[in-house]
Amino acid sequence: MADGPSPMADRRRDALYTCAMTSPSTLDLHPPVGIDATPAILGGPKAVTLPQEEANRWPIVTDEDEAAALRIIRSGEWSGGHLPRELGGYPCPHPEALALECEFAQWMGGEAAGLPVMDVGDFIPQLAGRGFKVAPNVLSHNNGTAAILAGLHAMGIGPGDEVIVPSTTWWSSVLPVLHCGGVPVFAETDDRTLALDPADVARRITPRTKAIVVTHLFGIPAAMDELMAIAREHGLKVMEDASHAHGATYRDQPIGLIGDLAVFSLQGNKLLPSAEGGLLVSRDADLVLSAARYGQYERLVPLKAMGHPLGEYAATGFGHKYRMSPVSAALCRSQLRRLTERTAQRSANCVYLSRRLSALGLKTYQSGEEGLENTQRVYFEFLVRYDQAKFGAPIKAIIKALSAEGCQVSAPRYPLLHQQPVFTQGDWLRLARLEHDESARARVYDPADLPRTTAGNGTLIKLPSFPSASKELLDQYAAAFAKVLTNASKLPTQA
Ligand SMILES: Cc1ncc(COP(=O)(O)O)c(C=O)c1O
Repeated sequence: MADGPSPMADRRRDALYTCAMTSPSTLDLHPPVGIDATPAILGGPKAVTLPQEEANRWPIVTDEDEAAALRIIRSGEWSGGHLPRELGGYPCPHPEALALECEFAQWMGGEAAGLPVMDVGDFIPQLAGRGFKVAPNVLSHNNGTAAILAGLHAMGIGPGDEVIVPSTTWWSSVLPVLHCGGVPVFAETDDRTLALDPADVARRITPRTKAIVVTHLFGIPAAMDELMAIAREHGLKVMEDASHAHGATYRDQPIGLIGDLAVFSLQGNKLLPSAEGGLLVSRDADLVLSAARYGQYERLVPLKAMGHPLGEYAATGFGHKYRMSPVSAALCRSQLRRLTERTAQRSANCVYLSRRLSALGLKTYQSGEEGLENTQRVYFEFLVRYDQAKFGAPIKAIIKALSAEGCQVSAPRYPLLHQQPVFTQGDWLRLARLEHDESARARVYDPADLPRTTAGNGTLIKLPSFPSASKELLDQYAAAFAKVLTNASKLPTQA
């Protein structure tokens, strides 16, 4: 967090937000004497007056990032690498991608976490002693969506297999199921975690269910103990879509190492950004190799040199090409060096504001809350839940009034997937090539399904995630929310 305001301003702020320290039942929403509490939408002054561009700029680009990208550009090695001449000089992964995989494995906990970094000489004796390292449990991709598709393939998802998925996620967690010939089965979202509701997941299991895809939405860990217990009981594979959750933990385990396989998107707005990219991670190195066969034929060439059976596919792979650009890998390595520090700063800012907002009566999804005990969440995005029954005004009126105060707030940006035309109008059957599958044809995706998820999604307010905000800006947001919620009954409700 940037330097705080002066001690005087601190005292003013403390006075203004003593309500933040009281329990919601004893809330005093009245503003301090001398502050004009008229909402901007009703003609009062705006609460948020500080510039917000720098506070919310992401990714943060440094000279090191630029130098990393330039290093690759100037090297002239813009694609894959090559095996040494004595091994045929054939294509192999780019050293930059391999280095990123090793560094990410270390960042996730390395050997102790089941993600060892090894000398390539352990696999290919001819390369022993040359200092080449590999992380057999991490596989870089050109984006997270490709990594999810390769991961589903590696988990054995095939025609007609049902995969239980959330509706509240980005489409990449779900649509790749179709391209394996699988059938996404949407389950309700748990209000406490904004991820899959374990009880509803259990209800939707059938003899065709093969896997569960869990998204740790916005950086909030899903109820993994319950979900894993269900999966193990029914022999299901679990993919964690950890694209929002780099660095989050669940009962002291890193998110991404609890299920069978995980994917971390590295897309430009993610906590670990690159110029597009994705990482597939699994403690099971065979699953990782299987994913490599799907979209990274160049990984199979060294396998051939080792005499590994997957080397048989070196000339073709399985028909996709998902290798990560070395420029992206270089940027990502550079960003990885700052990831822990930047995530801590972002979290400190969001927790600071969350405490004030939860004292105002909003649910803020902080680590330690009910359903989030023993978790450490991160803040890919910062959403809070508004309860109309408590305040009176419809959520749209609140968002409008907060926007008039200068807050950058909105409804959640992901549309509910089970309501999207690709499902409701039947395209999914064609994409999954299941037109002749009786059971798949009988499935109807009904927008009215998942009533709890739909109702819950309509009560969320999205704020910026404040990667570099000052306390003053966060205080201005808290003031805006206090002003608007105090005056909820007076807000205009017409569109
Ligand atoms: C939850 C989630 N899963 C998967 C992805 C896909 O990642 P990518 O954009 O890198 O393909 C994204 C984001 O973009 C995402 O938000």
